[in-house]
Amino acid sequence: MNKTLSTIFALAVALGTAAVAQAQEVRGDVKAGEGKIAMCIGCHGIAGYQSSFPEVYKVPKIAGQNAGYIAAALHGYAKGERRFPTMHAVSVSLSDQDIADISAYYAQLGQADAKALPEAPSREPSTEVAALLQKGACVSCHGANFAKPIDPSYPQIAGQNADYLFVALKAYKTDNNPHIGRSNAIMGGIAKQFTNKELKALAGYIGSLDGNIKTVAESRFR
Ligand code: HEC
Ligand code: HEC
Repeated sequence: MNKTLSTIFALAVALGTAAVAQAQEVRGDVKAGEGKIAMCIGCHGIAGYQSSFPEVYKVPKIAGQNAGYIAAALHGYAKGERRFPTMHAVSVSLSDQDIADISAYYAQLGQADAKALPEAPSREPSTEVAALLQKGACVSCHGANFAKPIDPSYPQIAGQNADYLFVALKAYKTDNNPHIGRSNAIMGGIAKQFTNKELKALAGYIGSLDGNIKTVAESRFR
């Protein structure tokens, strides 16, 4: 492991511990969360729904995602560590309790029939992608099948929409623009090692894998 990576790992452990400590303070309630998602389903409750900012891509699948990661992302949009206008507007209106409840709700949504995922990815990467995965040590944090991250505040990425994964990876390279991008010490250090063409290849492969995250179609009139 090179020096950059070991620094990133030390940081990851420190940040992971902080996130867990925070999560313990506010306990999420699935039932309460169900009553708080009316403003989410217009985008995250429609399969294939597309965002046109900063380019056209499908909004992320969040049903079945780890609660700790959903909460971390929502806090990130609220605080501006993740810069995205609509998600900022949505997340600043939520209390810490709302975020915990909504995260607990989405984490279990659509998981009654969740597949037991294999320990290894459901498809072999090409030689090119295998080299990129190794360079970025992706499995060391996201899990050998990209669906079992080492910390609950880290995302499952197997089977996520590939076009969204590409947008997310590029966002981590942009940490000095007030309107767009993500400031994340861990993924920033990783994403900056790759060209956009390489990030697109990584996103295409990871998005093609079997995973348990999904979009569950939900009606506004429940
Ligand atoms: C207007 C459409 C829209 C609405 C409404 C909306 N979202 Fe989002 N959401 C998006 C888009 C687009 C992204 C991707 C943003 C980015 O690139 O960072 C996103 C990102 C997210 C993420 C990060 C996912 C990941 O994999 O990192 C979470 C979590 C999330 N939204 C939860 C919610 C919740 C909970 C609500 C309701 C309280 C909500 N969103 C409302 C469009 C929306
Ligand atoms: C040291 C641990 C670590 C390594 C190594 C790592 N990641 Fe991550 N990754 C994370 C964390 C933590 C996050 C969440 C960051 C945040 O909150 O925005 C993340 C987020 C992501 C996201 C955003 C997912 C979403 O839903 O928005 C993608 C895509 C991603 N990683 C892909 C990769 C790829 C591809 C590699 C290898 C090239 C990699 N990661 C290597 C820890 C890691």
